[in-house]
Amino acid sequence: KQFHGYQTGTIRLEPDGWFFTTPFITFADKYYDFKFKPNDVVIVTYPKCGTTWTQEIVWTMVHNPNLNNPKASLPVMIRSPFLELDFLIYSSPIDPTMPGTFLHDTFAQAHPNRNPKDGIFLQLAELTEDPRIIKTHLPFSLLSPSLLETCKVIYVARDPKDVAVSYCHHSRLIKIHGFEGPTSDFVDHFVNDTFWPHLKEGWNRRKHPNIHYCFYEDMKANPKEETLRIHKFLDLNLTESQLNNIVHYTSFQEMSKREQDNLMGSDTRSMWNEEVFNKDGGFFRKGVTGDYKNKLSEEDIQKINEWTKENTRDLDDEFKYKI
Ligand code: A3P
Repeated sequence: KQFHGYQTGTIRLEPDGWFFTTPFITFADKYYDFKFKPNDVVIVTYPKCGTTWTQEIVWTMVHNPNLNNPKASLPVMIRSPFLELDFLIYSSPIDPTMPGTFLHDTFAQAHPNRNPKDGIFLQLAELTEDPRIIKTHLPFSLLSPSLLETCKVIYVARDPKDVAVSYCHHSRLIKIHGFEGPTSDFVDHFVNDTFWPHLKEGWNRRKHPNIHYCFYEDMKANPKEETLRIHKFLDLNLTESQLNNIVHYTSFQEMSKREQDNLMGSDTRSMWNEEVFNKDGGFFRKGVTGDYKNKLSEEDIQKINEWTKENTRDLDDEFKYKI
């Protein structure tokens, strides 16, 4: 694997052009060599495609089918660890080894014997109770080559125009991302980012028996059906009534209600830009398909469509976003 400086604080991985902040170098091999277990479920997504929703569906099916597990009140990132969160945290001003920080304290509460120096979230992923439901935004090519031979993977894709809107909001909301420019600047960044290689790496593996490839739009249109497909893929044995309850419990409305409690972490609000929160909402912004029509200019829509056309030429017609 080869790294070279792209701009200050950022690296670009050749030959595919994945972008990362420099602390990724410290962790890249650890992620690549991460030991997955046969009963892990790994949720692989490009950011803002419905990761948290899928984590909550899977974690609840596996660990809380009767909706009475007290651990359900822990933040989702503690129950279902974010594999590479350390490198993002270490590229921010937050020092997660400092007692008193939200990340440190939440982690200490979950795993008191940790050694923060080796990466808090990496260890959380290692120590999490089986079966582990692990989240990652890393593309397949930066994860263990034996991932699909070892455990089950759920890949979630979403319309790039809605992803652009959601990601722009996220980048404004979270202080450490601190994006302050206009939406059109964000779109310019987005069409240079690695959305397509990420989705294609997933799509090209979709026929592997250990991958379940799903679309946010289908989950939104038919939540029950899509939940049943995940249930079948995971070989679980829940009752109709348990599944109905889980569909309700993981709806946007119910999850956004839990955002007020602890779903995203007790102190998340301190990491958010209040102005953005008051204007456009929190992590659970809107949870719909097609909001780009209200948020993107004609020019930006056109830009994303052309970029999509170019990048989906080689994909078959089954691919939802092919133009
Ligand atoms: P919006 O910003 O469009 O509302 P991720 O978890 O990958 O970061 O994705 C976040 C997006 O998924 C946000 O999209 C969020 O609102 C949406 N989302 C989260 N939970 C959801 C749910 N239960 N149903 C529908 N959308 C959900």
